[in-house]
Amino acid sequence: VLITGGLGFIGSHLAERLVGLGAEVTIVDNLAANCGGNRHNIGTFANRVSVRIADIVESTLLPELIADRDYLFNLAGQTGHLASMEDPFTDFEVNSRAQLAILEACRRQNPNIRIVHASTRQIYGRPEYLPVDERHPLKPIDVNGINKLAGESYHMLYSRVHGLQATALRLTNTIGPRMRVRDARQTFLGVWIRCVLEGVPFEVWEGSQLRDFTYVTDAVDAFVRAATCDAAVGEIFNLGGDCAISLHDLAELLVKTHGGGEYLIRSFPRTSRAIDIGDYYASFDRARSILGWQPATPLDQALSETLGYYRCYLDRYL
Ligand SMILES: NC(=O)c1ccc[n+]([C@@H]2O[C@H](COP(=O)([O-])OP(=O)(O)OC[C@H]3O[C@@H](n4cnc5c(N)ncnc54)[C@H](O)[C@@H]3O)[C@@H](O)[C@H]2O)c1
Repeated sequence: VLITGGLGFIGSHLAERLVGLGAEVTIVDNLAANCGGNRHNIGTFANRVSVRIADIVESTLLPELIADRDYLFNLAGQTGHLASMEDPFTDFEVNSRAQLAILEACRRQNPNIRIVHASTRQIYGRPEYLPVDERHPLKPIDVNGINKLAGESYHMLYSRVHGLQATALRLTNTIGPRMRVRDARQTFLGVWIRCVLEGVPFEVWEGSQLRDFTYVTDAVDAFVRAATCDAAVGEIFNLGGDCAISLHDLAELLVKTHGGGEYLIRSFPRTSRAIDIGDYYASFDRARSILGWQPATPLDQALSETLGYYRCYLDRYL
């Protein structure tokens, strides 16, 4: 198995699961500045994976990395929405151009490889209806959404036209141990968690927006199911959470779960409002019916596990 972005938040959990299943796992990751890659993420199983520190934008590396693998879990990416507006070309390089290079390498070196791509709900833009299903129009409202949509579209095109066996999962906010807490480049919730643990107030922007959250081990479960399901080839699936919750209620739940904490309601900073998607929660009916997947972890448990992790390891993520 090859995992791009395997030192990151979701990729490292996936690597751990696959190693546990007996897979021979190679991670390729460049520990990109401002992404969630962290050697601590694989600390407990580092001796059971091989790690290649390399940039997937360097397409000369790809043939060697991809040859002889049975599975490619393609998670390397730049996740920051504001970051994609401030530095659009870095986002483009990894989320779009490198994705095409990876697929070209697969087509030429290893056309039978099974591929699962980490796509995102961001490609829908502002929802026109809820819950958002896979037929919802795709109207991204930031550079990251456009580049991720291109990355996903390349996977589907190469599946349809070149016969590659690719599946895309459109992830919603994914949370859990190892998520980025240094800043909001992965999700605002990382900052909230850090603040409650450090005993400082966190900011809730407006608060009425609805969101859904997938616990990371449930997301990993979807990746494994997608890779091993013949009916998933050439298909796209939303992931989702066990409930839709407003940010205000989420703030309350976090404070309750931690047993303390304070937050301030603020209006949106102008730059963030311009790319905010409003209310979002996904329908994951397709994933349920074809992959047999559904979120198994309630949100309060997900928060509790995440808080527990960072009570021990916050210093490794600052
Ligand atoms: N976390 C979420 O809520 C979420 C939601 C939707 C989609 N996704 C997608 O899931 C994937 C994984 O996200 P994550 O949350 O684990 O993020 P992450 O930042 O923790 O992991 C991404 C990893 O990719 C690596 N990377 C970035 N550029 C690279 C490059 N050029 N070459 C090699 N490695 C590179 C980073 O070093 C990092 O370890 C991403 O593609 C992201 O778009 C995540």
